[in-house]
Amino acid sequence: MGIADVNFVKGFIRMANDGWEQGWHERNGGNLSYRIKEEEVSEVKQFFHENDNWMDIGTEVPDLANEYFLVTGSGKYFRNVIIDPADSICIIKVDDTGTKYCILWGLENGGRPTSELPSHLMNHEVKKKVSDGRYRVIYHAHTTNIIALTFVLPLDEKIFTRELWEMATECPVVFPSGVGIVPWMVPGGRDIAIETSKIMEQYDVAVWAHHGLFAAGEDFDLTFGLAHTIEKSAEILVKVLSMTPNKLQTIQPDEFRRLAVDFGVTLPERFLYKK
Ligand code: 13P
Ligand code: ZN
Repeated sequence: MGIADVNFVKGFIRMANDGWEQGWHERNGGNLSYRIKEEEVSEVKQFFHENDNWMDIGTEVPDLANEYFLVTGSGKYFRNVIIDPADSICIIKVDDTGTKYCILWGLENGGRPTSELPSHLMNHEVKKKVSDGRYRVIYHAHTTNIIALTFVLPLDEKIFTRELWEMATECPVVFPSGVGIVPWMVPGGRDIAIETSKIMEQYDVAVWAHHGLFAAGEDFDLTFGLAHTIEKSAEILVKVLSMTPNKLQTIQPDEFRRLAVDFGVTLPERFLYKK
């Protein structure tokens, strides 16, 4: 049995390939990380090599000290993950100060974890805290229609959330807390990581203007499903806006309130404003 037969590694590879097939990962676009469970670490330990080469994360994540992550490599292509995982992805361990990492498996032809590692780890740190450890997946994708909308909708979480909710009845059930927005920023560093992780305190999705989105979830299905639902509703909105600037009819605030009762979700009133 190889490392690619271990369940969580299989799930990671499948999700990377699903994202590729959706068209969200041109070239090396996007990145994925998974916070490995303790019992899963023991399933893959046999594949680790000795490594004392501790590298700077570029930010501090003290609450992730000594945790292990499966992460895509910087500059690696999602389309290659399924055919050569050992070249494209890696397992890293965070040190006991939460400032450094070392690579224990993968990237066997060289390289380093994604340039968005600061955002991934800061998001994991926030999500681990607010979900009592349940959230394990952080996903960054270059979702075409969400990116397109960041050129025509105001970069306001109230407007984005409401417009996306209106595009399909189940949207508010899938992302009842809405979506947050990070205005355009230089990617790949600590500053954008700080802004994104602030959003993750409250939301499971951060839209990066003119760039893509970050989604967080408990497992691969929920996280991929969340990104997929949001991107699909963005696609519908792009189609609607392409046909007309004015919708003839849509789902009304009171209808959202009724939906919330029947589906047992809480929809923040700030998104149910009168238009
Ligand atoms: P990486 O190849 O370093 O993961 O970067 C891709 C990306 O989407 C940056 O935002
Ligand atoms: Zn990106």
